[in-house]
Amino acid sequence: MEINVLNEGVESYEEVMLIYDGALKQMETKMQILNEEFQHVHKYNPIEHIKARIKSTQSIVKKLKAHGYEDTLANMVKYVDDIAGIRIICSFTSDIYRIADMISSQSDIKVLAIKDYIAKPKESGYESYHMVVMVPVYLSDRIVEAKVEVQIRTIAMDFWASLEHKIQYKFTGEVPEKISEELLECAKMVSALDAQMLKLNREIMELEET
Ligand code: GTP
Ligand code: MG
Repeated sequence: MEINVLNEGVESYEEVMLIYDGALKQMETKMQILNEEFQHVHKYNPIEHIKARIKSTQSIVKKLKAHGYEDTLANMVKYVDDIAGIRIICSFTSDIYRIADMISSQSDIKVLAIKDYIAKPKESGYESYHMVVMVPVYLSDRIVEAKVEVQIRTIAMDFWASLEHKIQYKFTGEVPEKISEELLECAKMVSALDAQMLKLNREIMELEET
């Protein structure tokens, strides 16, 4: 079967969204399989939970306009990387890199971009590991590859990001400096907590081995 990259022209909006939904489901299943197999082999779940969502039409249009693009189907496919988005929440930072490696090494997945906001957190304090990948979707007469944005983070990073998101929303982006500073303080605590929990977990595992 022919493999096509999802692009301008042929499809309707509904068809494009069906393809993104297929790509998201593929990715979600891949993650569930990895987690279950890992549990079977290592008696340990690297994934705490998974959230998957399709971006609303309204948000897609808003994002295109914010970046100065016309709201066409071609622009949306080309410029909006997070139409299909999956968030993978782990216990430990080490799990994040383990999962990222497992994703990258799957032969039908193409990694288009990586942003490691753990090695280099954003100015806000935001930490997460982001990947944009291409996943094949099998249709009746052809295979189409579509982008999925993957965000991998710890429970603590997710806790911080969801509070920060709520605050951004509440103040429509104009967060008072005092609050931004406190958020940055919290981000540092998140980072320290993740490091200490990882260390503690390693100590426990070493004790179990002896
Ligand atoms: P977007 O235009 O927001 O997609 O940014 P980008 O194209 O530069 O991509 P990036 O990888 O930086 O961010 C993509 C997604 O990560 C966002 O849509 C958010 O879900 C999340 N994110 C990035 N930065 C922050 C942040 O400072 N706080 C929170 N809460 N989430 C963030
Ligand atoms: Mg983005």
